[in-house]
Amino acid sequence: MDIPSPLETTKRKVAHSDQHGFSVFPDQVRVPNVIVMVGLPARGKTYISKKLCRYLKWTGFKTKVFNVGEYRRTDANAADAIHGANASFFSPDNADALKVRTEAAGRAMEDMADYLNSGAGAVAIFDATNTTKFRRKTIIEFCKNNTLRCFFIESVCDDPAIIDSNVTDVKVNSPDYKGLMSAEQAKEDFMNRIENYKKQYEPIEESEDEKLSFIKVINAGRSFKVHQVQGHVQSRVVYFLMNIHLLPRSIFLTRHGESEYNAMGRLGGDSPLTEDGRKYAVALGEFFEEESVQNLRVWCSQKVRAAQTAQYLRPEMHAEYWKALDELDAGICEGLTYEDIQQRYPKQADDRAADKYHYRYPSGESYEDVVSRLEPVIMELERQANVLVVSHQAVLRCILAYFYDRPLSELPFIDIPLHSLVKLTPRAYHCDSTIYKLDLETGEWDETSAQLPLCDSPRD
Ligand code: F6P
Repeated sequence: MDIPSPLETTKRKVAHSDQHGFSVFPDQVRVPNVIVMVGLPARGKTYISKKLCRYLKWTGFKTKVFNVGEYRRTDANAADAIHGANASFFSPDNADALKVRTEAAGRAMEDMADYLNSGAGAVAIFDATNTTKFRRKTIIEFCKNNTLRCFFIESVCDDPAIIDSNVTDVKVNSPDYKGLMSAEQAKEDFMNRIENYKKQYEPIEESEDEKLSFIKVINAGRSFKVHQVQGHVQSRVVYFLMNIHLLPRSIFLTRHGESEYNAMGRLGGDSPLTEDGRKYAVALGEFFEEESVQNLRVWCSQKVRAAQTAQYLRPEMHAEYWKALDELDAGICEGLTYEDIQQRYPKQADDRAADKYHYRYPSGESYEDVVSRLEPVIMELERQANVLVVSHQAVLRCILAYFYDRPLSELPFIDIPLHSLVKLTPRAYHCDSTIYKLDLETGEWDETSAQLPLCDSPRD
């Protein structure tokens, strides 16, 4: 017996998104959003842009960053100075350079409008200093003419420690200086660049335009000022910005140890660990004894196999059990093997193979559904310090796709083997990933610095 695809039968009134991430409910207007960064150099604008882009893409909004510095560097006539290797290039008195910078911004804006108007994207992030009222007025006009909704994010920072760490960790490695000078010289030049920008900096004020929608992020999120937020995307952006932090920490992710259903090749269910699975749980407890991660919080799914995997961790680690971390619900296919599904429901197997991310098991879930239920988990992970998540294959694929910044089309194929622990360490523009694989025979962990790859075959 076969049953119709859930795409044909599902009449559930759930909000879902079209291919650009807009709600398909007809009463919601589809106005693309431009998010405009504002602030002096080394205030974390690119950090925010990249991080926000990753988050919005993960939640289903097609989003792209347009970095004006990159446009400047690709100028056909670019000499070293135009590449930005000399602070004098950014002086408000340098008329020639100003022309080059304005042209670079113009090219970025045109590309941004093409991206949004062609329907290829829903959100564009305009990453530049945009420190003058005049530049912002130009952007607002441009957005009006192209019927784009405009939201400003101004990063204001006067904490010398934050600025110094940004310049030292990120800016001295900028392509502006690559191969041209030492780190010390680059730092000195960058500090002079900041001084040049200060001469022309006009922070956003409500009086500039009463209707302006903006958020000011003060000292990397110590406080905020929010004004005239409009629509779903902007309110999501504000919520996200209010939850992220810069403190160093690590996030550990692991599947539960092997369960009885795993050993039989059956999907889902709530079976306990096998002997191998128990060995993994013991080794995991020992790993965290040796690693002694400060104030580690443990988040577990509500399935027996996950709770058993966390049972040898120290009691003071206080495991918390989240329903949201339970495995993807395979609906009518729960408890079956992939071969059973192929035999009993061949159309379901074909539909899933055709679009694994959107496919929803009848009476169950899709990967897209799991991503939506994981949003509070991601937000809480952003807020926390060191966390260990003990969960399941599909759920961890969703979480990893966020931290690895992988496209949603690849998400269901990230290879997450049993008895492996992933350590993620967020850096300015990416996340370091270390994989510890347990050898069950020897009890040794094999350590590799890499991202988990995609599966060779979709059903691994
Ligand atoms: O097989 C283990 C398992 O966690 C199942 O419970 C779940 O349905 C499946 O993996 C998810 O992987 P895939 O989406 O590749 O079928």
